[in-house]
Amino acid sequence: MKKILAVALTLALTLTAFAACAESKETLTMATNASFPPYEYVEGDQVVGIDPEIAAAVCEKMGYDLEIVDTEFDSLISGVASGKYDFVMAGMTVTEERKQMVSFSNTYATGVQVIIVNDDSPITSVDDLLADGANYTVGTQNATTGYIYAMSDIEDAGKGTVAAFPNGNEAVMARVNGKIDGVIIDNEPAKAYVAANEGLKILDSTYVVEDYAACFAKDNTELVEKFNAALEELTADGTIPAIIEKYIPAE
Ligand code: ARG
Repeated sequence: MKKILAVALTLALTLTAFAACAESKETLTMATNASFPPYEYVEGDQVVGIDPEIAAAVCEKMGYDLEIVDTEFDSLISGVASGKYDFVMAGMTVTEERKQMVSFSNTYATGVQVIIVNDDSPITSVDDLLADGANYTVGTQNATTGYIYAMSDIEDAGKGTVAAFPNGNEAVMARVNGKIDGVIIDNEPAKAYVAANEGLKILDSTYVVEDYAACFAKDNTELVEKFNAALEELTADGTIPAIIEKYIPAE
């Protein structure tokens, strides 16, 4: 009798353990920098936008819970490379330099570096900014591709000055307050910032066209493969196009 009881008890405990296991999924931590609408921005106490929504859909498909950390843009690559975060989604451009440090997923969006100026600016095109003797001051978000390109094409080339800001919003505010001549930033956040502030416009000419992807620690190939498989399914079934369309309605 005692033995039967013991067996029953063990069985009950085992079943409970199984149930607990099935309920608590492993959590993946995604890091981002939420000053980049419509890809990521803060609403109330939530980080919302295209990247958080794609991440949530991909994690659900892979069977993980998702936690989002909002931090400085210039700490994202080193943080994910060192294993502090499982992945990064931040409108992050795929570049050869970054590929030395992290692994990228397949790309899920395109970005274009554009220039924001005030309505009556003497700057009318990218060429004006890059001209010999132009001598303008352009603002960028620190460590972004806009910053990297502007440093080499403008400041290091002796054609002007580059000012680095902790986020895109502060760069735009510096233009609004007349401290700088223009801002180099990705086109979708540029549209959001121009819509939110009076007296600004986006120049017609494009500076650089880029691809966005999620990134992971370099050796985390298993997660990159799972992520890509989920991304592919969610693109084919219309989930990801619908998320993008929700934030960037086709004109
Ligand atoms: N696409 C640019 C880059 O990768 C800018 C990204 C900025 N993203 C952000 N969440 N603040 O460098």
